[in-house]
Amino acid sequence: MINDTLLNRRTIRKYSSESVDDKLLNDILIKGCRASTTGNMQVYSIIITRGETIKKELSPLHFNQKMITEAPVVLTFCADFNRFNKWCLQRKAEPGYDNFLSFITAAIDALLVAQTVCIAAEDKGLGICYLGTTTYMANKIIDVLKLPSGVVPVTTVTLGWPDEKPEQPDRLPLEAVIHRDTYKDYSNGDIDNYYREKEARPDSWKFIKENNKETLAQVFTDVRYKKEDNVYFSKLLLQVLKDQGFMNQ
Ligand SMILES: Cc1cc2nc3c(=O)[nH]c(=O)nc-3n(C[C@H](O)[C@H](O)[C@H](O)COP(=O)(O)O)c2cc1C
Repeated sequence: MINDTLLNRRTIRKYSSESVDDKLLNDILIKGCRASTTGNMQVYSIIITRGETIKKELSPLHFNQKMITEAPVVLTFCADFNRFNKWCLQRKAEPGYDNFLSFITAAIDALLVAQTVCIAAEDKGLGICYLGTTTYMANKIIDVLKLPSGVVPVTTVTLGWPDEKPEQPDRLPLEAVIHRDTYKDYSNGDIDNYYREKEARPDSWKFIKENNKETLAQVFTDVRYKKEDNVYFSKLLLQVLKDQGFMNQ
């Protein structure tokens, strides 16, 4: 079963109106929370959003991606040292987790749990979609979800019963992402080889045409993930890390 789940999965962005019951969600979350975490500190939290009011508030912060309002369940995974810090202080221990390294530690914990939740959900036939908009709009999501100091949202996952079965997207050949013993840097020829199949796909050509570009890479650099946006949202995120208490050296 897990083989099929992993090999046949695809992101689902359209969900049926059927709800996901609490028992099933609980079962998935219990499995997800079995993921490894740094020193078993479990420095993450998961906010479950089912209610229309909060979903409507979250929607523009995720650039109105329809999955937020259409999926029965929205999960926001947060890097969270708040709970652990409180435990330390209540037990005569001085926490030293107000720094960038600790943010990364907590973000890694949150993401490992998120992905394990996704696999557990997909194994039950549910569909999931990650939303990268979380790190773009973390400052506003913090307000809506009332996240205290020490807590930063790092990713969001929408969850529901699939109402579509899209084509499976491509992957680079395994050889493109695997290095044996040490990193072997890519020659121009390697890049041509590894991206040839992706670039030849009809959906890639459609993408290029729709966006009036010459190459697929330009769709990424000039349209989807532009430098000016990256720089703008980087600054916002760095401010979030400061505001949430993670940048004290
Ligand atoms: C961190 C992360 C952020 C993502 N953000 C979005 C998003 O904002 N909107 C969306 O529709 N899909 C999003 N996705 C889904 C990816 O587009 C998708 O995983 C990728 O195209 C590969 O498709 P597959 O998951 O069906 O194999 C995100 C995926 C990840 C891992």
